[in-house]
Amino acid sequence: MIQSLRGMRDIAGREARIFQWIEERARYFFELYGYREIKLPVMERTELFSRGIGDESDIVQKEMYTFEDRKGRSVTLRPEGTAGVVRHYIENGYDKRDPLKKFYYSGAMFRYERPQKGRYRQFYQFGVEAFGMESPLIDADTITMLVDYFRDIGVESPLVKVNNIGCPVCRPDYNRALQGYLRNHEERLCPDCRKRIETNPLRVLDCKRESCRKVVADSPDIADFLCDSCRSYDEEVQTLLSARKIPFERDRFLVRGLDYYVKTVFEIHGGEGAQNALMGGGRYDGLVEALGGQPVPGFGFAIGVDRLVSLLMETSLFEEDPGKLFMVWSLEEQALLLEKCDILRKCGVSVDFLPDKRSFSSQLKYAHRQGYRHVVILGEEEAQSEQIHLKNMETGDETYVSPYDIREHLI
Ligand code: HAM
Repeated sequence: MIQSLRGMRDIAGREARIFQWIEERARYFFELYGYREIKLPVMERTELFSRGIGDESDIVQKEMYTFEDRKGRSVTLRPEGTAGVVRHYIENGYDKRDPLKKFYYSGAMFRYERPQKGRYRQFYQFGVEAFGMESPLIDADTITMLVDYFRDIGVESPLVKVNNIGCPVCRPDYNRALQGYLRNHEERLCPDCRKRIETNPLRVLDCKRESCRKVVADSPDIADFLCDSCRSYDEEVQTLLSARKIPFERDRFLVRGLDYYVKTVFEIHGGEGAQNALMGGGRYDGLVEALGGQPVPGFGFAIGVDRLVSLLMETSLFEEDPGKLFMVWSLEEQALLLEKCDILRKCGVSVDFLPDKRSFSSQLKYAHRQGYRHVVILGEEEAQSEQIHLKNMETGDETYVSPYDIREHLI
């Protein structure tokens, strides 16, 4: 038997139906807020990610699926969507002639991480990216959209965590202060964080290890180092979120794992456990330029769909469509079976049947095993009638109804 790869899984059954439902709702919300869909390749030149996400990030250092194609060029399965959208944006010259653009995407991402609950090597994201808009209005409006979306699909009490991690003007001062502090406590940090002191000190702040958390608890707070522009930006975002009654808290240890962020970063948490960040995002005003375009600001986020689906498996508002029918049939003229199914399907009802000839009782047993709540009986007599012979599998009740009214009888 050939098994699936470690960290890669199939999504089927109820999980797949919840996935489909939350994707439909996500599209609805994204479109409502002016985002338009983009479909991107799953593979790009490696350089796009190493320059975009940052050479020192964990993703680029150890998590990318990178290999050579048949011509010896280094290619990578996308570990995230932002860099690809930025590449599209620059390649089409939007940065030069039409900078205000809003995109959304949905698709599989690949990271070679250690698999655990809520963390896979192939996982799915729904994301948005807004270009050319450097205003707290876009940050607050997009965060509001997300909270509305999460509530709509039944995430109870989504909590927004926000932080402002400064910009190239003020971050270097903060980095120096943080490095100074961390060097004094180096022996209490994990080996990864010791390296990060020199390469990426900000990342020490969100290390999950208890010993590192204790060290950073008394570290300098970036809020005390923000330049006037970042400070007023941060205040404005928080004022707008409060005005929109969005539940949020500032988390000074929230720094995010990708190096392109400036100013606003945020996550929404829900559910229990270590992997409970349902999404992450923020502002990346230098990324378009870093990837060869004009200096155009950007803001976006990505939702971790796998985590959302597993949360909703337990608490979902999602209900299976009760309007599914199974046709139990016995006919000489088989075309009549297809005709009856066609009528019901045109009325918007899902209908299925077994194509081989079997006794009524064997078909009913099959329908029962599959969990159908209603079946349609179709014999020679019913084939001549306009009415549908409906049987409720739970109560045993049988009725004759018009196909146009059938949905009401299926609830
Ligand atoms: P990220 O925080 O790396 O951000 O990923 C976003 C979300 O994807 C996470 O909050 C998590 O729910 C989910 N996720 C990440 N890795 C895994 C995994 N291995 N298995 C399951 N779920 C996972 C980004 O990717 C940025 N591109 C977001 C962004 C867009 N920022 C600006 N625009």
